[in-house]
Amino acid sequence: MVMRGLRMSSYCFFFLTNFFLLLLNISAGVSALSRLDFPPDFVFGAGVSAYQHEGAAAEDGRKPSIWDTFVHQGKTFDKGTGDIAADQYHKYKEDVKLMHKMGLEAFRFSISWSRLIPDGHGAVNPKGLNYYNNLINELISYGIEPHVTLSHFDYPQALQDEYKGFENRKFIEDFTAYADVCFKEYGDRVKTWITFNEPNIVGYGFTGCSSPFGVNCSVGAPVPEPYKATHNIILSHVAAVHLYRTKYQEKQKGQIGITLLTFWFEPVTNSVLDIAATEKEIAFSIDWFMEAIVYGRYPAIMRQRLGSTLPHFTENETNMLTGSFDFIGLNHYQIVKVDQHSATPSEHEGGSIPKLVEYIKEKYKNPTVFIHENGYSTEGDDDPSSPASYIDTKRIECLHKNIQSMLPTIRNGTNLKGYFVWSFLDGLEVFGGYGKHFGLYGVDFNDRNRRRYPRLSTYWYTSFLAKNGRKTETSSLLFAQ
Ligand SMILES: *[C@@H]1O[C@H](CO)[C@@H](O)[C@H](O)[C@H]1NC(C)=O
Ligand SMILES: *[C@@H]1O[C@H](CO)[C@@H](O)[C@H](O)[C@H]1NC(C)=O
Ligand SMILES: *[C@@H]1O[C@H](CO)[C@@H](O)[C@H](O)[C@H]1NC(C)=O
Repeated sequence: MVMRGLRMSSYCFFFLTNFFLLLLNISAGVSALSRLDFPPDFVFGAGVSAYQHEGAAAEDGRKPSIWDTFVHQGKTFDKGTGDIAADQYHKYKEDVKLMHKMGLEAFRFSISWSRLIPDGHGAVNPKGLNYYNNLINELISYGIEPHVTLSHFDYPQALQDEYKGFENRKFIEDFTAYADVCFKEYGDRVKTWITFNEPNIVGYGFTGCSSPFGVNCSVGAPVPEPYKATHNIILSHVAAVHLYRTKYQEKQKGQIGITLLTFWFEPVTNSVLDIAATEKEIAFSIDWFMEAIVYGRYPAIMRQRLGSTLPHFTENETNMLTGSFDFIGLNHYQIVKVDQHSATPSEHEGGSIPKLVEYIKEKYKNPTVFIHENGYSTEGDDDPSSPASYIDTKRIECLHKNIQSMLPTIRNGTNLKGYFVWSFLDGLEVFGGYGKHFGLYGVDFNDRNRRRYPRLSTYWYTSFLAKNGRKTETSSLLFAQ
């Protein structure tokens, strides 16, 4: 009965929404926006990650990752786990159909290393191999381009137990061997590879520790482990890039890069101290990885402050690191206001993508850039029958503002080539668990079948992506709500 009621309400909602969007479409206005305003080679997508959305955590030979361990220690805000998550493992065909209906041009997802190679090294799990082949084939059959992340916080627990994962240089060899399997098996169809997702919060400030979900060192303290761990991540990145370039790229004609979490930092005042504090924040979050992969060194500010706590690259490593990427992925959500004493993130600030991209252009020789994550979270009520769960006008406002903000910076010569909404559908959020919703599609986590339901933003993005020349008007009507 409940199910029937729900279906009924979303049915009515569908018509209501289409009517609403129709109204919006026919009223011309300054903020009208269409995918056709962007260059044809620009790509619009949405994303998910393996542990946050796949579920089937103990099925078909998958073994735990460090993220499984973390959540099973009750460390997620709502004690949620990714055991079932959005169950994409079983529902990928349905999901790809929804993507197609939405007009999605690209889909960003990650491979669960412990599904593919359960012990971190050694035997490949045929069922894991098969799953990603199926998913990739399904995407390709609808003309949806996969952007695939190799490591999205979830390396195999076996490697943590064996040698402390990121903290050990052995990680480099295992990561490269895993990447080799992925390139070899999927590289004929996957043309965009991301080595690591947000490695710049893994080692420092994220849980304040050297592995993303190990927690045994104080937040932000200049202890060596985080820098050692990220040093090994950077060397793992460069080893995978080197492998791809020497063994696969010529034949497969793909691109490989890395995706960072990038806040946009602004000083609270124009005082010398606030500006210096802001430069420090940028160095310790963005420049940390950018200087490494563009110039093969760490930022001077970091070296000054950390001294020998910060590892060194050998001459060979520096040579290999220099220019070791085809693109940079930027995950961007917030502006952070900085003064000498604190750095305070603002909630859901829009419009700072151009500042970030211009910064990268000026400082790092105008690389190809993708906004690999951007989005808006709502909280609390995830009862799909409640309007609050699907009337997400704030999300639409945020997406509209941010997508629109990219146009001038593209015209100003940045190599911004794509934009991905985080997320395609609700999943297990890193700390917020199931209490935070980023999805265009909502997921009913109380339903055994993990029923998907479209939010208003689903219709908005669909209408924006439509290649019929109509403009999507996110009018004052919508903003006013
Ligand atoms: C965590 O840190 C404490 C204090 O430094 C130490 O005694 C303990 O052995 C550490 N635990 C692990 C698992 O490393
Ligand atoms: C430099 O690194 C590459 C890749 O790891 C390796 O093949 C090469 O032997 C190294 N060269 C030296 C001189 O260490
Ligand atoms: C446009 O690009 C130029 C040259 O890189 C730069 O100096 C200028 O600040 C950019 N304009 C904006 C609005 O970012």
